[in-house]
Amino acid sequence: LKKLLALVCCAALTCLSVTGCAGNQEKRTIRIGHNQSTNHPTHIALTAFQDYISGKLGDKYVVEVYPSELLGSQTDMVQLTQTGAIDFCVASNAILETFSKNYEIFNLPYLFASPEAYHHVMDDPEVTGPIYESTKKAGFTAVTWLDAGTRNFYTIDRPIESPADLRGLKIRVQQSPTNIEMMKLLGGSATPMGFGDVYTALQSGIIDGAENNEMALTDNGHGDVCKYYSYDMHQMVPDILIGNNAFMESLSDEDRAVFEEGFKLVNQVERDEWVKAVANAKDRAQNEQNVNFIYPDQKPFVEACLPLHDTVLKNNPALQPIYDAIQMYNAEYPAETN
Ligand code: GCU
Repeated sequence: LKKLLALVCCAALTCLSVTGCAGNQEKRTIRIGHNQSTNHPTHIALTAFQDYISGKLGDKYVVEVYPSELLGSQTDMVQLTQTGAIDFCVASNAILETFSKNYEIFNLPYLFASPEAYHHVMDDPEVTGPIYESTKKAGFTAVTWLDAGTRNFYTIDRPIESPADLRGLKIRVQQSPTNIEMMKLLGGSATPMGFGDVYTALQSGIIDGAENNEMALTDNGHGDVCKYYSYDMHQMVPDILIGNNAFMESLSDEDRAVFEEGFKLVNQVERDEWVKAVANAKDRAQNEQNVNFIYPDQKPFVEACLPLHDTVLKNNPALQPIYDAIQMYNAEYPAETN
């Protein structure tokens, strides 16, 4: 049904882009899709982009933001961005590795020593450039990143204190080979599916748990079903705003410069909102949904996952210099010890 809705939506969108909206005949409509709610930092940031473009180039462009998988799952939306049916979408780095292997690097568990190291890496165009541009042939390019916090395991009724507790549990992961491999190493049974299907899968007991940031508990209701959230902190996977190449290449230099400023704004607004949103989600999960937060010893999780670094680097040696640059940031911004 979702696919059908997405198709109907797209057909409608195609008609619109040919005819334009009444009163906006000469304006180019820019469509951006994402899979979060309208409360989410992603949506707030894209709305800021919409206002910014409207303020600077409102005579030429109208930006429309489609939240909540209205245009389909993230994988559907990436494909729509590839073909130019829509202009931009936000996709998790996790699923982008199926479009270019270079994206595997940011999906590695325990890649970053600290959130500070993660942020500095993602802010360094020398590190992100070769990855962002690796999908050019596929029809799209990354234009900025969005913080999606730290991913942790959460389960309906079994607290995860160590990897051994994952044994025999079906855990939803994103549709990424690296994530499936990570779950194998940790001993759980990986069940890949799109984000929008997770709530029902948890509720019907098809899966025993999932892994995500704290916002998934509240904003997506997963904390209504899952009562244990365990800070093993296995990944910091960014979200990526991707744009259709043909559209971006069609922009004049002046307009492109405004769009580039707009992309920076998306990143800044989202990061500011993210800090507040996570604190708020944690508070609500604890006090309203009665989720128990667990702080396990991370060491056994790290040890189980580390072989994946070698596997990925061996399969794609081009990633080695990027990996080495990340280690330099890790040395500069090490994990906090207390
Ligand atoms: C986070 C992330 C999304 C992603 C989701 C998932 O919410 O921000 O981009 O789709 O996790 O687990 O699929």
